[in-house]
Amino acid sequence: MEGYFDYAATCPMDEDALEAYVHATRHYFANTKSLHDSGTKAHALLDQCRNTIADLLGIEREGVYFTSGGTESNELALDALLKAGKGRHIITTEAEHSSVRNLIQRCEEEGYKVTRVPLNEKGMVHVEDVARAIQEDTVLMAIQHVNSDIGTVQPIRELSNLCRAHGILFHSDCVQSFGKMALEEVAPYVDSLSVSSHKLYGPKGVGAVYIRPSLSFHPKTPGGTHEGGVRAGTVNTPGIAGFTVAAEKMVKERSRIESKIVQLKKTFLEAGEWRLVGDTADSSVPIIGLLLPEIEGQWAMLEGNRRDFHFSTGSACRTGSQGPPGTLLAMGCDAEEAKSFIRLSFSHEQTNEQVEKLALFLNELHKPTVAK
Ligand SMILES: Cc1ncc(COP(=O)(O)O)c(C=O)c1O
Repeated sequence: MEGYFDYAATCPMDEDALEAYVHATRHYFANTKSLHDSGTKAHALLDQCRNTIADLLGIEREGVYFTSGGTESNELALDALLKAGKGRHIITTEAEHSSVRNLIQRCEEEGYKVTRVPLNEKGMVHVEDVARAIQEDTVLMAIQHVNSDIGTVQPIRELSNLCRAHGILFHSDCVQSFGKMALEEVAPYVDSLSVSSHKLYGPKGVGAVYIRPSLSFHPKTPGGTHEGGVRAGTVNTPGIAGFTVAAEKMVKERSRIESKIVQLKKTFLEAGEWRLVGDTADSSVPIIGLLLPEIEGQWAMLEGNRRDFHFSTGSACRTGSQGPPGTLLAMGCDAEEAKSFIRLSFSHEQTNEQVEKLALFLNELHKPTVAK
């Protein structure tokens, strides 16, 4: 779709991924736990996918569990780390995806202490703030890699050093970065991470969680036989096959994709005087957060929709919620000002012309010729 600028919410399926999905649905439909030949064949495909995803992430295959997506991956990871570690204090940010925020809030209600470190005006955590937040019984740090509202990239390596020095387990949500950035720079430094298929042109309802195999924990749903007992339920082999093909393609073509995104962002940024949220102008992350002058983001989104420009006012998971994105609140942005926030997210399949048209539309929103 010409005017679709909501790729951080979800992507259309890549043609090769779709083909792999359909092929696996036809020929690898058996239950991977069945002992007959059809089951063995499906299991072999699952094994092959696990090896590929592990290689793409630069992690041990034994720690990779397929899930229904980023949300479930985050929940399984946090649950596992809290069980594997010792302590009742958690460090996180208000800018995490709702699946992380909600679970940590539940932990708080159950008696865990939680420190939510702020983001600075660049949309980054200060490593010094995080260091100051560490307590004797800090068990877990949950800080995302790439932010889903504004696209900033957190300093995973430095945060990991802090965690290692203090015996804290570290989870990072990599849903917005897998396939778009080199995760070899992240995966070795965390104890768990989550990824999702539909954010990189794979099928929806599929994802993976990595939990460091040396950790010992009781699974969230005991008694399961699939996925090493960590995740119960028949495995979605066709979805996993589609996910693997999509991920492989994105990683293989990453440098081309990154330069295309940088170029599209440059085109957009040069086409107007924008108030960018966070320091993301030069990065290859395909997300831009903007504050529109004296225009409500919600109104801009509806007006855009009328003209076939589809973008959002933050993470799709917030749709229907009243407040501004947690990311902006974590940055100390005034709640009234945060109402003028919109998120644009790009695809390497887009053209400069498409981006120019969007910029023109947003520029014209300020002019009286557009009916408000
Ligand atoms: C950073 C982040 N984490 C997790 C998720 C959830 O992923 P899924 O839709 O696969 O459950 C999203 C989706 O918006 C996200 O942006």
